[in-house]
Amino acid sequence: MPNLVIIGTQWGDEGKGKIVDILAREADVVVRYQGGSNAGHTVINNRGTFVFHLIPSGILYRGTLCLIGNGVVIDPAALIEELDHLQGKGIRIGSNFAVSGRAHLILPYHKAIEKANEQSKGSRRIGTTGRGIGPSYADKMSRIGIRVGDLLNPTLFRRKLHENLVEINWFLERLYHVEKIELEKVFQQYMIYADRLKDHIADTSIMLSKAIQRGHNILFEGAQGTHLDVDLGTYPYVTSSSSTAGGACTGTGVGPTVIDGVLGIAKAYTTRVGSGPFPTELTDAIGAGLQERGKEFGATTGRARRCGWFDGVAVRYATRVNGLTSLAVTKLDVLDGCKELKLCTGYRYGGKIYRDMPADLDALTSCEPVYEAMRGWTVSTTGATSYAKLPREAKRYLKRIEELAECRIDMISTGSKRQETIILRNPLEPKRKATTATKR
Ligand code: GDP
Ligand code: IMO
Ligand code: MG
Repeated sequence: MPNLVIIGTQWGDEGKGKIVDILAREADVVVRYQGGSNAGHTVINNRGTFVFHLIPSGILYRGTLCLIGNGVVIDPAALIEELDHLQGKGIRIGSNFAVSGRAHLILPYHKAIEKANEQSKGSRRIGTTGRGIGPSYADKMSRIGIRVGDLLNPTLFRRKLHENLVEINWFLERLYHVEKIELEKVFQQYMIYADRLKDHIADTSIMLSKAIQRGHNILFEGAQGTHLDVDLGTYPYVTSSSSTAGGACTGTGVGPTVIDGVLGIAKAYTTRVGSGPFPTELTDAIGAGLQERGKEFGATTGRARRCGWFDGVAVRYATRVNGLTSLAVTKLDVLDGCKELKLCTGYRYGGKIYRDMPADLDALTSCEPVYEAMRGWTVSTTGATSYAKLPREAKRYLKRIEELAECRIDMISTGSKRQETIILRNPLEPKRKATTATKR
């Protein structure tokens, strides 16, 4: 059975949660591989509305094993809050949920550092979600991180905490002029968390390996999006993890040969939350219209998402760096009623036209998008479940997305609910190569 990575092709919030929810029906395992509670994945189905931050969106299916891999950073308070919330809604969480002992923890000082750091940056701030993600990953790379497994060894946990606080409190008090963190308070609190989480802490890489041996079907649930990836995104306006497909291996402890396909989720337009370059951003009434119709407000922080036209350069880049095998295009319905639609085919900068995403932040910030205009449609596509019944203009628009992205479309989402979806092909069908266009 095939194993599929699901990733965002833009700047996050593409509708990954909805698509994972649909595909998880056929999956035996759903595993998160990076990020943390900065993610907000919305699922709307017959059981209600759910926003997942840490727990994989597959938890709503009884028989599905849900794992949090070693590449994720865990805020235990956020995880417990999510567990409580789901259990309160009648969702069973027992042996069907485990978190890697190798995953790193988010501690109160990570949030304090992030807050002080963002404040000191002024207009150059990243506009983070404030969840302590960056400082936790920084500690991991500096080899002073504290891991989920350390919660089970109080002596070790206390020693690491003590060692870290010597330096961190110096910075907090002397550099940032904020209150220092008290060791005893954090230690006691984290031991309470440990008690609650201990039964869920496991070697999830071994669990995945066993699932693979049994021929089980695995979904790797990406968080954030390609252009927020720490290596391949619009650095430094990125998150601090590997949100691209490669992260699925390092973040879960499986080899690349295990992965059969990579499904990229792309909104039919573009959004971004927080600071950073966004070539196709619309600051006019059209952008405001997309924001209103698309209800573009962050699922984690409630911040308004910046909106713009579909960016073919950005999505084609995602096809390449993730090795996408197909696309799911979401929120087509939000474009209903737009007289004219624009798609970005290149960036004009310094007298040159770029067809590929420039690494240079100045180029990305100052470039002019090169647009191609298409006729919109007046008929509603909201809730459409049949490709054949879509208006001709919508079909043309989707076709053009396929051509620009150099990747074929397997799924089209026409509303936030599970059933408001057109499935052209099942992306979980056996391994195949991406093609530039589809014959239909
Ligand atoms: P994720 O982070 O990629 O999982 O996406 P979010 O859940 O943060 O944001 C996507 C938002 O769009 C959510 O509120 C979804 O319920 C909603 N959504 C998903 N697909 C569609 C769609 O096709 N049409 C509309 N109108 N809303 C959608
Ligand atoms: P999902 O999984 C959209 C953005 C933040 C900020 C930058 C860094 O729901 O798509 P961080 O707190 O990660 O250090 O912030 O990344 N960001 C997201 N934007 N969707 C997300 O997750 C995001 N997670 C982080 O707004 O610009
Ligand atoms: Mg989101």
